[in-house]
Amino acid sequence: MKITLSHIKADIGGYVGHSASHPEVLAKAEECLAKAKQAGLLIDYHVTKCGDDLQLIMTHQQGEESPKIHKLAWDTFVEGTEVAKKLKLYGAGQDLLVDAFAGNVKGMGPGVAEMEFEERKSEPVIIFMADNTSAGAWNMPLYKMFADPFNTIGLVIAPNMHTGFTFEVHDVKEHKKITLNAPEEIYDLLVFIGAPSRYVIKAVYHRDTGEIASVSSTQRLSLIADRYVGKDDPVCIVRTQGIFPAVGEVLEPFASPILVEGWMRGSHTGPLMPVSIPDSTPARFDGPPRVVGLGFQLSEGNLGKPRDMFADKSFNLARHQANEMADMMRRHGPFEPHRLPLEEMEYTTMPQVISKLRDRFVDLD
Ligand code: 13P
Ligand code: 13P
Ligand code: MG
Ligand code: MG
Repeated sequence: MKITLSHIKADIGGYVGHSASHPEVLAKAEECLAKAKQAGLLIDYHVTKCGDDLQLIMTHQQGEESPKIHKLAWDTFVEGTEVAKKLKLYGAGQDLLVDAFAGNVKGMGPGVAEMEFEERKSEPVIIFMADNTSAGAWNMPLYKMFADPFNTIGLVIAPNMHTGFTFEVHDVKEHKKITLNAPEEIYDLLVFIGAPSRYVIKAVYHRDTGEIASVSSTQRLSLIADRYVGKDDPVCIVRTQGIFPAVGEVLEPFASPILVEGWMRGSHTGPLMPVSIPDSTPARFDGPPRVVGLGFQLSEGNLGKPRDMFADKSFNLARHQANEMADMMRRHGPFEPHRLPLEEMEYTTMPQVISKLRDRFVDLD
């Protein structure tokens, strides 16, 4: 059975500040998607949150980029925004960057990750969602899952993975894409994805079969709006087991926290902390950045009851390490490398400060 898994998300208001989602907003989204399921548009859905982001996970048979599905998500965000405005939530409607929907939510603010595939005999899928960081945050974890044999030993010992995976990398500034094969092109691949503010892994494919393995949201809000409008807070869908890495290989990269861009005002570098959904409440300096992972065992497109994968105690040490890393970065205050490099500050007050003081810069002799 061919199904489409669509994940569409937006920050439509924070409670309190940018720290969490309000239960009434989640309840409104639940109501909207329940109606769509009843009407037969959706096979199933799951509404959840990561920090202040509303996450709509939907299965259906309308294919990718379906105007009907995108409109459903957009309308749900608009209705949720009404609730957020009534409650005076912080930044109500924050990620809805245009006034009217025009067929596809891409480029309009919400984040999208969608994949269409033939459901296997058993189809375990992990959906990662992050708050207070940007799309490039998935680059290292995806590289480890699909190209690093020290993480995914299956690449070495499982015959059905031994040929490797193909990476589709997007240049989010130039709007270009390139496809590179692992293992033989990993040095070229790393030249690009090691610069995650510009080069972002959009999708990963199994080389032998061409099957889609992973897809991520890659929109950059600041590049759409030309100003700082909150962080992109990306999502990423990963199929697991069989010809794909095992669930444990897919989760393992998050056991060693890495530094990502985001955190306070989207302008800092901080550790990506793996947490359960209830713990996705970035409070310290609006962070540190969080990642949650929900596991689904699909059955004829039905999502069933998801498992909250990072609730597992084996991620306690990673959380502790992330807190230690947060302390170390916070010590730098407004200095790099805690504050993002100049190029990334373009979307904050930096251009205004530069233009105000331009005349006071005099030539050195
Ligand atoms: P598969 O053979 O389904 O990939 O299972 C491997 C596994 O789960 C080892 O951890
Ligand atoms: P969000 O993008 O999660 O709303 O965070 C914005 C921010 O500036 C946090 O300090
Ligand atoms: Mg917010
Ligand atoms: Mg957010």
